[in-house]
Amino acid sequence: MSTQQVDIPLAELAQRTVDARERTVELASDLSDEELMGPRLSIVNPMLWEVGHMAWFQEKWVLRHVCGEPPIREDADALYDSMAVPHDTRWDLPLPSREGTLEYVYAVRDRVLDKLRGAPSPALVYHALYSVFHEDMHTEAFTYTRQTLAYPAPRLSGVPGDGRAVPVSGGGPLPGDVTVPGGRLLLGAAPDGPFAFDNEKWAHPVEIRPFAIARAPVTQDEFAAFVDDGGYDRRECWGDKGWAWRQEAGARHPVYWRRADGGPWLRRDFDRWVPLEPHRPVVHVSWYEAEAYCRWAKRRLPTEAEWEMAAAAQVNPRGGGLAETKRRFPWGDAPPTAAHANLDWRGLGCVDVAALPEGDSAFGCRQMLGNVWEWTSSTFQPYPGFVPDPYKEYSEPWFGGRKVLRGGSWATRSRLIWNTWRNFFTPERRDVWAGFRTCAIAG
Ligand code: AVJ
Ligand code: FE
Repeated sequence: MSTQQVDIPLAELAQRTVDARERTVELASDLSDEELMGPRLSIVNPMLWEVGHMAWFQEKWVLRHVCGEPPIREDADALYDSMAVPHDTRWDLPLPSREGTLEYVYAVRDRVLDKLRGAPSPALVYHALYSVFHEDMHTEAFTYTRQTLAYPAPRLSGVPGDGRAVPVSGGGPLPGDVTVPGGRLLLGAAPDGPFAFDNEKWAHPVEIRPFAIARAPVTQDEFAAFVDDGGYDRRECWGDKGWAWRQEAGARHPVYWRRADGGPWLRRDFDRWVPLEPHRPVVHVSWYEAEAYCRWAKRRLPTEAEWEMAAAAQVNPRGGGLAETKRRFPWGDAPPTAAHANLDWRGLGCVDVAALPEGDSAFGCRQMLGNVWEWTSSTFQPYPGFVPDPYKEYSEPWFGGRKVLRGGSWATRSRLIWNTWRNFFTPERRDVWAGFRTCAIAG
């Protein structure tokens, strides 16, 4: 097990270390002590616990594992180790107060910043960056926890808007498919590339048949047509597990939708009800709901390899099929800007599916990064030759039981998303910022 050598200027790593922690604190600090504990639900953590968990993770890897320092708090492992503390007992822990928690998280951060001012080893740099990414994942989770619990939209420094999405030019629908020629794709991250998670390693050839994929994710308007056509009561649209889930959950429409008799659909956006925006992607649907919509629409979900091909492959400029090299982002190798993708909490919500044409992939698929995560048909499995990275529990315990999502959401940090990035959740989850795009059924 070796740590990857990551190339990042130390000043930038320090700035990310500060910025990730600031975002964590900002997402929690406007909430009452009661809200910071919240209800005991299987899909959320007590936010007070989660704040401490992020710092514990950073302390464990950077200060204790790499530097051999003793723990700052004697009780840190007993409180914050997510593999050791069962989820439903996290509400019963003797957690430090808000002030005590903040004291701990800033103490950890300051010691890490000290280490970065020295001559940090490659292992320290790796784990410090990994800790930023881990924190970024949890702050995205904070955002959907606030949605789950109907807390107000967060107010974030450096993010425009007052909790409403900022308008972007070029809204509206984006119907139709593009055709992807198929061929050989090197699925996954290349060993000579930048930081990658263990589950992306390494790029390996897969053969893909030509396919047609939607230019955009399924919109709220399109999904409403399925709901209004009785889709949730049509047994034939659901798989066996999906139907069992639909019965159990009593699902009749997406979780945050409601409507008065004969009235228009509304959706709950954090703590307020807003009319459904027709051309925004449907979000907060489970994998089962995505599958049912597909059967109703006589479509199918893409496999994760198809998704990656549509996002990352490019036609060989010298002719003769697909180029050997993939793009890091749908539009090329330049890092994301506001014109490419709805990321970084920009606007605090989704934008219409036709927005952001500059972010199109080589084949003309729009918004493959940002806005909503996209469910794929694929079960989360290791790539051939998989070896866990030092944080062994990141991927390996979850192989086999989850579905792969690709592409990131508006609440994903732009530093933490690229074309080979694999997310994974159990198929009944609908609290995540997840939607989907569909493929034509060949035939
Ligand atoms: C990669 C988002 C599925 O939330 O379970 C956080 C991220 N892993 N702490 C999750 C994670 C450990 C993980 N996902
Ligand atoms: Fe974690």
